[in-house]
Amino acid sequence: MRAIEYNQYGPPSVLHLTEAPKPFPRDNEILIKIRATTVTAGDCRLRALNVPFGFRTLLRLFLGFSRPRRRVLGMELAGDIESVGKAVSKFKPGDSVFAYSGIGMGCYAEYKCMSEDEAVVLKPPNLSYQEAAALSYGGTTALNFLNRAQIKSGETILINGASGAVGSAAVEIAKHFGAEVTGVCSTVNLAWVQSLGADHVIDYTKEDFTGNGKKYDIIFDAVGSAPYSRSKTSLEENGRFLMVNGGLLEMLLIPWITLTSRRKIIGGAAANKVDDLRYLAKLAKAGEFKPAIDRCYPLEDIAEAHAYVDTGRKKGNIVVTLEKVL
Ligand SMILES: NC(=O)c1ccc[n+]([C@@H]2O[C@H](COP(=O)([O-])OP(=O)(O)OC[C@H]3O[C@@H](n4cnc5c(N)ncnc54)[C@H](OP(=O)(O)O)[C@@H]3O)[C@@H](O)[C@H]2O)c1
Repeated sequence: MRAIEYNQYGPPSVLHLTEAPKPFPRDNEILIKIRATTVTAGDCRLRALNVPFGFRTLLRLFLGFSRPRRRVLGMELAGDIESVGKAVSKFKPGDSVFAYSGIGMGCYAEYKCMSEDEAVVLKPPNLSYQEAAALSYGGTTALNFLNRAQIKSGETILINGASGAVGSAAVEIAKHFGAEVTGVCSTVNLAWVQSLGADHVIDYTKEDFTGNGKKYDIIFDAVGSAPYSRSKTSLEENGRFLMVNGGLLEMLLIPWITLTSRRKIIGGAAANKVDDLRYLAKLAKAGEFKPAIDRCYPLEDIAEAHAYVDTGRKKGNIVVTLEKVL
């Protein structure tokens, strides 16, 4: 099968197309023929070992110190089940599914085996494979942080980085929960973020939200450019700060801030839960969540897709399609 591998950490050029053996499902596994995958900011971080301060050594220990042990990146997929192991009861051949392998990766390939108990869910019929492939990364991150913040209907939330994969999902999901949403993005993305459902938008190139005197119940910093130290004056007394992209030092401050203030900081990695995928699929089926797609690339142009994501300017999600089968 065709797959994209990387044998060293570095720029997009470390990615190359290769022939890899087609996997065979174990008893509890399903074999998925992948139709679409994505290039996320997370994939690019793993490719280049570009992580917030303090995490690089930890990541090397996990991924491989001098070179990656798992050679196929890719965290999200949508496709069809080709065959199932003999103990599988939740799926059958022919089912269309989407899945989130997260840090387990392996989605830049024509086939992937996953346990039926992993984060695999039937594809909502109203979503294309491209849309379904882009459902998990931004969607589960946004949902996980919003759930941990116990967001309530009528609350105000400011989403910094509202035009990224995580931020755009957070806008849609916060609206689903009945919140009043303010999205922060640059000039070119203002109208687009409003079209996702944001009630108000702030252009960060013209206005610093921390200086406008408004306060929010929740601040969701999806990109890391509005750290707690700067944002706290815009948080209500009992406000929650969602730190999606915090460094080690900021993480270490969380217990201290929780002890000394009524405000709460929520950080760390979003858990990869199959229930969250099911919830997102239900929202998508009801038309309340539709992953936003910026560009689509064929598998062989994946290095170009990585280079685009590296610019930090993508809008929503970048999808990669696997149409050709050798
Ligand atoms: N904690 C977790 O479990 C977890 C899970 C997933 C992702 N993450 C992290 O979350 C971060 C965001 O991921 P993503 O996939 O959403 O990223 P992304 O899609 O690559 O973010 C790109 C967006 O960021 C916006 N942006 C750039 N600079 C900005 C600024 N100064 N202020 C406001 N917006 C700005 C850009 O909008 P403009 O072009 O308008 O500037 C662009 O639309 C990444 O660092 C990722 O590693 C964490």
